[in-house]
Amino acid sequence: MPRTIEWVDGRIVLVDQTALPEVRQLTVGTVDELVDAIRRLVVRGAPALGAAGALGIAMAARTLSGAELEATAARLAAARPTAVNLAVGVSRALAAAPGGPDAVLAAAVAVLDEDAAACRAIGNRGADLLAQLCGEQPLRLHTHCNAGALATTEWGTALGVVRSLHLAGRVEYVVADETRPLLQGSRITGVELAAIGVPHRIVVDGAGPSIIARGLVDAVVVGADRVAANGDVANKIGTYPLALAASRAGIPFIVAAPESTLDPDTADGAAIEIEEREPDEVLVVGGAKVAPESSEAWNPAFDVTPADLVTAVVTEDRVWRPAE
Ligand code: MRU
Repeated sequence: MPRTIEWVDGRIVLVDQTALPEVRQLTVGTVDELVDAIRRLVVRGAPALGAAGALGIAMAARTLSGAELEATAARLAAARPTAVNLAVGVSRALAAAPGGPDAVLAAAVAVLDEDAAACRAIGNRGADLLAQLCGEQPLRLHTHCNAGALATTEWGTALGVVRSLHLAGRVEYVVADETRPLLQGSRITGVELAAIGVPHRIVVDGAGPSIIARGLVDAVVVGADRVAANGDVANKIGTYPLALAASRAGIPFIVAAPESTLDPDTADGAAIEIEEREPDEVLVVGGAKVAPESSEAWNPAFDVTPADLVTAVVTEDRVWRPAE
């Protein structure tokens, strides 16, 4: 698998995540192309969006400056609203603009490098925490959506924890929700777990809570798109039912995310903008309409898990227990 996102000769090369499990790359050379790629989920996952935003500003800074660059930055940051990392990546690169295009590129590359290091630290810290909470035996883990190498620059957050545990021989299996409507679980997490040889089963989203209730899972580990100041967590739609089920079953619900996903400026989950996507993502499956013409759809892309259901948020720097 190529790296999720790379800077090559002034352009951005992305693994096209709409095509997975087929591996294809897409090169974008303008901010308009990048905004389109972000909206279509060619590049997705909060930390990868932060990297894309930062490199997008590096691309724009080669030809634009001042108010024009700032307007472009605002447009890029607004391409998707829920993952805070996109706006964070854009503003970090933009802050370097007074130093010229090379300084902007250096700031953007630093966003990528820091994410790669953060993911490894999160993976190790999360693995240690799960050993404390669940014991040293091989664990049965449940995850949702894709919080792996393809959602970051490399290694992953929730799947970074899985990778760290797997390297220590401490994963019995992973249950991966398929993650309707765009199937990031089957198409992306499935690819990543298969590539590293982790035993896994993909389940329909509706099966997740009852699999937990049947005692088949030791812990839930997910990523996040934004963590509010009070510890409420926005993540892919379908995360909240897993948190409810984990709480009921008395197993840990762990959120693995870099510090850049923690948003002190958003007081709580109610203040997080939840992206609404096209109804056809729900109504059309494999190119065929699966509902009557008269049926409408509601397609929120994320949900909010309240802080009191979160056992811990694991970052590169700390283990935060918002419920305490
Ligand atoms: O719509 P997506 O695929 O961008 O949603 C991604 C998620 O919800 C991930 O779980 C989250 O961004 C964490 S990625 C490390």
